[in-house]
Amino acid sequence: MTSLICNLAGVALRNPIIMASGTFGFGREYGELYDLSILGGIASKGLTLHPRSGNTGCRVQETPSGMMNSVGLENPGVASFLENELDQLVASNTAVIANLGGANLEEYVNGAAQISEACDLRQRQGQQAVDLLELNISCPNVKEGGIQFGVDTEVARQIVREVRQVTSIPLMVKLSPNAQDIVAMAHMCEQEGADAVSLVNTFSAMKIDIYQRRSAFQNSYAGLSGPAIKPIALRMVHQVSHAVSIPVVGMGGISSVEDIVEYIMAGAEAVQIGTYNFVNLHAGEELVAGLTAWMEKEKVQSLDEIRGIV
Ligand code: FUM
Repeated sequence: MTSLICNLAGVALRNPIIMASGTFGFGREYGELYDLSILGGIASKGLTLHPRSGNTGCRVQETPSGMMNSVGLENPGVASFLENELDQLVASNTAVIANLGGANLEEYVNGAAQISEACDLRQRQGQQAVDLLELNISCPNVKEGGIQFGVDTEVARQIVREVRQVTSIPLMVKLSPNAQDIVAMAHMCEQEGADAVSLVNTFSAMKIDIYQRRSAFQNSYAGLSGPAIKPIALRMVHQVSHAVSIPVVGMGGISSVEDIVEYIMAGAEAVQIGTYNFVNLHAGEELVAGLTAWMEKEKVQSLDEIRGIV
């Protein structure tokens, strides 16, 4: 009997396939296309304490083998998420991951505390709540917050430490490939009590509009994702998962079952699918079916048999 079940920091996932933050909204639109309960989990669009309207100007550009984005964390804010989005995410009957960013330490801590308090209340009322909090210290597209915290290990330490103190929700920290030392960053997260790390967010990148003679993006740089980054992201997941004891969720350019298997063999407990959702609206359901078929064909009964074998 083939089993795709994963244990992500005590959270049982039906399978290792999670939809990545920022590529799946809050699941509403994709829920019209297929049954979301077949997924391992859904990571919400990056939330901030207060609503944000995001960046102006160009937000998305296709690149050879990928895309660049500069959305700027457009989101309705934590309170609106809790009031208007969480119920339907929970109803999708898959693991719910709230991705949280912030413009400063206080915003991260207050955002996490607000999510945590609301989830405690829901649980006391017998309602399912957020299963994991994904702390986003890696958004490259906002001037204040996100990546400015994700480059230097000691700067990030304070955020992870203080957020850890205000929540008992399993905490996963989303790391940036732009970190000075991603292995040291992951070690720090483990030391500060994070339950998992996810990596990698997008690579800081640039596109120039040669006719306007300026960057195509108003923020100068944007985040590169998609198949172009997969070999580098895979190497980072391999390095980190062999260096820490907490689970690693791998992401970056996954667009096939074989890509997922590579990440698992590199040591990932689970994976996130991002850019591929824009290429194939049915990516989630096709990858779940494909991974099951691959395991049956290769006579792999459990992902534990292949996890971290390389
Ligand atoms: O610009 C954005 O909203 C991207 C967020 C992220 O990469 O975390």
